[in-house]
Amino acid sequence: MRVPAKVNLQLAVGPRREDGFHALVNVFHAVSLFDEVTVKAASPRQSHALTALTATGQSESHLARVPLDETNLAARAALLLAEETGSGFPVDIHLDKHIPVAGGMAGGSADAAAALVACDRLWGCGLSRERLLDLAARLGSDVAFGLVGDTAVGTGRGELLDPMASPGRYRWVFALSTRGLSTADVFGEYDRLRPDAPDPRLDLALQQALASGDAEALGRSLSNDLQPAALSLLPELQRTLDAGRSAGAIGALVSGSGPTCAFLIGGGGEDAALVAEREAEVVAALWATGMCEQVVAADGDVPGATVL
Ligand code: C5P
Repeated sequence: MRVPAKVNLQLAVGPRREDGFHALVNVFHAVSLFDEVTVKAASPRQSHALTALTATGQSESHLARVPLDETNLAARAALLLAEETGSGFPVDIHLDKHIPVAGGMAGGSADAAAALVACDRLWGCGLSRERLLDLAARLGSDVAFGLVGDTAVGTGRGELLDPMASPGRYRWVFALSTRGLSTADVFGEYDRLRPDAPDPRLDLALQQALASGDAEALGRSLSNDLQPAALSLLPELQRTLDAGRSAGAIGALVSGSGPTCAFLIGGGGEDAALVAEREAEVVAALWATGMCEQVVAADGDVPGATVL
């Protein structure tokens, strides 16, 4: 299975709900930075749904943050499916990771979405899309989007998805940090900074920019309520954002709970040579900060979890 990373085009965060989660309006946009998830029947067969989890594809520091036990969201996806359907046999799950780990791009959630679909196929459960989406939502706020992909608005705690019209194609650059940020810590910092958060609302200017495929307007409408909290925990991210903006990015923001920073470079309607030149300048400026572990370019939007 191939499954994409996401960037949030708008992340509006409301007050903390009674269940501990925050009410969100979360505009997800899937980008062409993929994890590959392989699920195979384990041999010899044992009595648990999961026998082994392995991971490759990232720097040692990133891989060190991937749990290789049943706390990994991909493993939990397999266990939940087995529990719910009463079917399943032991499997080995391999994660080839290219989405930053603990980076605010929903890498763990993407792996869980892929594991869910792969196990459903391998075990012959044949769950409907609705059932899969329901299980995904129970695993985490961002997992259902891994199944859906493209551009979608999430409400509730982010798990109730509606597709959003976005005919345009956009070029992005992502600056990966050597550090990771825990989503729960960033939401905790948000509560400290914004104890009186209003109810979240979809930004109509963003919706219009997406509907018309206007990259400049999209760049102006990008927003993330968690950004001040991520910057408060990792102040050096401000320099990364400033460097990309000064080098010509038409939009810049922290992705989700961070610390990955996302830079909008241009849209499909623009002169391709101009966009490529802008991209090269932004990439060079980001490397020059000396603060990025990796700088990668990607396109959006792209489909959700796909069988290879
Ligand atoms: O749902 P998920 O497991 O991705 O959430 C990780 C953490 O992020 C939660 O434990 C919670 O602290 C925080 N969160 C939140 N409100 C949301 C989504 C996540 O407070 N809507």
